[in-house]
Amino acid sequence: MPVQFTINGQPATVDVDPDTPLLWVIRDELGLTGTKFGCGIAQCGACTVHVDGQTRRACVTPIASIDGSEITTIEGVSGPVATAVQDAWVKLDVPQCGYCQSGQVMTAVALLTELPQPTDEDIDNAMTGNLCRCATYVRIRQAIHDAAKIMEG
Ligand code: FES
Ligand code: FES
Repeated sequence: MPVQFTINGQPATVDVDPDTPLLWVIRDELGLTGTKFGCGIAQCGACTVHVDGQTRRACVTPIASIDGSEITTIEGVSGPVATAVQDAWVKLDVPQCGYCQSGQVMTAVALLTELPQPTDEDIDNAMTGNLCRCATYVRIRQAIHDAAKIMEG
């Protein structure tokens, strides 16, 4: 049965097996490859997207469950919080290989949307499920604080 949703503000309809993970619909059906496959079992955060404004592991989200939802990926995330995060990320040169970074950014945007001035503990709690094999954790934490400052003005 076709599943309808919006992705990055555009309507989309796909007709695939209802158990197909959202990640593969995003990457293979819709050609948005900024969202990455890491573990496939909800353990690394590389596939993090927003579904109705909340972070979601796309690798374990059956497409049938997102019928009628609004999805945002790294290609479409926008607004003042996303801009502050992107600016801070660039300024601090956060990524190394970059593979985990779209997931990191999507989680950071969700965190700062909910908590505009997070403490170190808030950041650690929010980001703990987003792994980085290049160990960019210190710069990620600093960039989140810097983004919070940018948003504060
Ligand atoms: S690929 Fe989805 S959490 Fe690792
Ligand atoms: S920047 Fe390489 S895995 Fe995070």
